[in-house]
Amino acid sequence: MHIPPKASIVVLTGAGISAESGLATFRDNGGLWADHDIRDVATPEGFHRNPDLVFDFYNMRRREAAKASPNAAHNALARLENAWDGPFLLITQNVDSLHEKAGSKNVLHMHGKLNSALCYECGSHQQWDGDLDDGEVCTSCARAALRPDIVWFGEMPYDMERIEEALGGAELFVSIGTSGTVYPAAGFVMEAAGNGARTVEVNLQATGNPLFEDCYEGPAATTVPAFVEALLAGR
Ligand code: APR
Repeated sequence: MHIPPKASIVVLTGAGISAESGLATFRDNGGLWADHDIRDVATPEGFHRNPDLVFDFYNMRRREAAKASPNAAHNALARLENAWDGPFLLITQNVDSLHEKAGSKNVLHMHGKLNSALCYECGSHQQWDGDLDDGEVCTSCARAALRPDIVWFGEMPYDMERIEEALGGAELFVSIGTSGTVYPAAGFVMEAAGNGARTVEVNLQATGNPLFEDCYEGPAATTVPAFVEALLAGR
């Protein structure tokens, strides 16, 4: 694939990129939403209804993510960022830190992070690596008002201004391992295409979205390194 050597690249990743690191996706067979009700564990209402259920859910995911290692797809994106001369932004819907573990720098977690706690009184975000339970005290305002720092359904994703700006200037938009069913992320390809970007999908199976000009099907740990090599070779 040939794009201008200093072109602006925006990459969007979803749960599929972490599947081969042993982390469940959401909507595949045996995915998280098969065993957990979104309304209970991924809405503010669910949290107020039964906070312990929510803390347990994210404590489980935080422990699993802590044990997981980046795979060849995460590593390839870190390599691309490192080798690319133009602007590069990695927007992830994932709340694990496998991109950072792989060495990626310019990463935006639009749906939050597992290893962070949010104070719903003062709004501060604080590093949190162990289990988080009801009653933990905020290090900023000293109130017992911490929740998982995850953007739940009905809440506004993080860094939307930076994301819009990057999509506005993107010359290549690459979507990896996402079903493209959750907005606003699912609408990014339309924005990027509308601004003239080349659009590429890398996924186990094509989602069928006609806005993607190219699609590379297969497991991310195989397809992403090949895509990155082709991109770097084509400069
Ligand atoms: N390699 C590449 N793609 C894969 C792999 C793999 N090994 N395994 C699964 N996939 C693909 C699936 O085919 C599917 O299209 O990854 C996608 C995962 O889709 P979802 O489970 O819907 O996850 P995602 O798109 O990240 O969900 C978006 O929804 O539940 C909310 O906030 C949550 O961030 C999440 C958002």
